[in-house]
Amino acid sequence: MKPRLQTALLRSVLYVPGSNSKTLAKAPTLDADALILDLEDSVAPEAKAQARSNVLDTLHATRDAPAQIRVVRINGSHTELWQDDLITTLPGLPDAVLLSKVESPDELSGPNEYLHRLEQDQDFSCSLWAMIESPLGVLNALAIARHPRVSCLVMGTSDLSRTLGIPGDPQRIGLRHALQHTILAAKAAGIRILDGVFVNIRDPEGMIAECHDGARLGFDGKTVIHPCQIAAANQAFLPSDAEAAQARLVLEAWNAARARGEEICVVDGRLVERLHADQAAQRLARWEAARKK
Ligand code: COA
Ligand code: MG
Repeated sequence: MKPRLQTALLRSVLYVPGSNSKTLAKAPTLDADALILDLEDSVAPEAKAQARSNVLDTLHATRDAPAQIRVVRINGSHTELWQDDLITTLPGLPDAVLLSKVESPDELSGPNEYLHRLEQDQDFSCSLWAMIESPLGVLNALAIARHPRVSCLVMGTSDLSRTLGIPGDPQRIGLRHALQHTILAAKAAGIRILDGVFVNIRDPEGMIAECHDGARLGFDGKTVIHPCQIAAANQAFLPSDAEAAQARLVLEAWNAARARGEEICVVDGRLVERLHADQAAQRLARWEAARKK
């Protein structure tokens, strides 16, 4: 995996329809941590060819000073489209390719071989991200996450809700098990995982609530569909200033305990062991990385 991808913040990851030149032009100016330049469901069948060429132009235009992680979403390996999606857009050197509707690790073979061949010919490396958006994809999430080229899972909650036949419920009760199962798979494989989209762009409170729900569940960030949703995701998937200050206190107390030859201490009534100090250090590092952006 590219070092840039290993450490990158992925709080807000914006879908940008590849067929819409206006959104493609605007996306690099926005505060999203990553862009998913889409060739799949937001692009009509008759617009696929033009969308591939638009996406390549956007990748070229942002290549020298990429402010964001750049990902191309390609059509699923069960379609006739994915190879042309790759052939046309890979010369733009995206950081990752997001494969839609992945249900088993076998489906990764075609895109993986293609990327492998290209890497041998050129000085280039590209990660694979996988969309988990069906019951079978959820059940096979661990095998998919363990594929050596896969560095991130992306929940496709709209497709998953449709297949499960469940309503859009603010508590996401019907999705809970699937979300948690897929998060466990990603964490067990040591890769990143992003929450699905919140489809109502006129419901900022609902968006904020769902971002915090995703952060509490353990997602690294959220996929978003509109510029107005970016700030909510950036805020929710980052420790607050108060949490960063608390993390600093924990670290100081634990370092002082270590200097006395002790392995545990108590901060504000709470037990602090090495694991809590590690967690505090990670939290602080994420907070500092976001401040530097
Ligand atoms: N990426 C970048 N820019 C976007 C954007 C996106 N996803 N969505 C909207 N914008 C831009 C518009 O181009 C417009 O720019 P301008 O102010 O320079 O004219 C501005 O933000 C305001 O857009 P607005 O008029 O409110 O939205 P819209 O009605 O044009 O579009 C959607 C609404 C939902 C159709 C659009 O946001 C969209 O296509 N989102 C992505 C959908 C997608 O990719 N789905 C697949 C995965 S779920
Ligand atoms: Mg989908």
